[in-house]
Amino acid sequence: MRNLSCFLLLFCGDLHPAEEYELWWEKNINNTLSISTFDEWLGDIHSTSRVLMRRHVQKMGYRSIVDVPAGLCTDYFGFKHDGIAIEYLGVDITPKLVARGLNQGIPIIEGDIKSLPFPDNRYEVCYARHILEHLNGYEEAISDLIRVASREVFITFFIHPQEKEVINSSYSFGQLLYGNTYSKSNIEKFILSNPKTSDFEWEYVDGREIILHIYLNSANLVEWRIYRDKTVIRADRSL
Ligand SMILES: C[S@@+](CC[C@H](N)C(=O)[O-])C[C@H]1O[C@@H](n2cnc3c(N)ncnc32)[C@H](O)[C@@H]1O
Repeated sequence: MRNLSCFLLLFCGDLHPAEEYELWWEKNINNTLSISTFDEWLGDIHSTSRVLMRRHVQKMGYRSIVDVPAGLCTDYFGFKHDGIAIEYLGVDITPKLVARGLNQGIPIIEGDIKSLPFPDNRYEVCYARHILEHLNGYEEAISDLIRVASREVFITFFIHPQEKEVINSSYSFGQLLYGNTYSKSNIEKFILSNPKTSDFEWEYVDGREIILHIYLNSANLVEWRIYRDKTVIRADRSL
């Protein structure tokens, strides 16, 4: 706990003001949107994509994870439910949600996925569920997730990337909100242009969600290649 307090003091001092599209949750939660409706939208610990994430983390033997954005910290409770011992930290830009998590005794801090308050390689996995579509682009967030992760960036999309990018902004409850469809091939080129990327893999969840695994250069890479039973798409920097 003392370590967490020092950490908060060190890293929470220089928060940038949130962009208009990042204020949707702070403005709506507990006003136009109840926590229980938000909870229903996000899906509980038994949601397929969350279960797949936990199984993957367990299978790979990851020891630390940053969950950004943590939202209602559903995945924290998922780890507890499954008895998975992992160093967990939630990050969210919405002060109300951070206060709610802290009240429940969950390690969580305020922060922006585009400029995470951590040194390089701090967490074995950076986990980002249902967020990139809500930003005005994915590049800054993915770059920072790759910087902070030492072994993998695990991204769950709720809108499948397609061939053509569609930036879709609208006003929902009077507040700007993005729901973008990104270009799959552009995402692939972007992650492969990062020298830290080793491999990537798309994992289909169902008609709604899809997971992107970005595997990073790491001493343990050989270990997981032998361990995993799925086809691995090799990084090809000539793309
Ligand atoms: C759809 S919810 C997903 C929450 C969680 N990942 C889940 O799947 O349960 C989106 C979350 O993103 C947070 N958020 C929005 N913009 C953010 C940003 N730039 N950095 C960090 N969190 C952000 C919101 O506060 C909200 O909690």
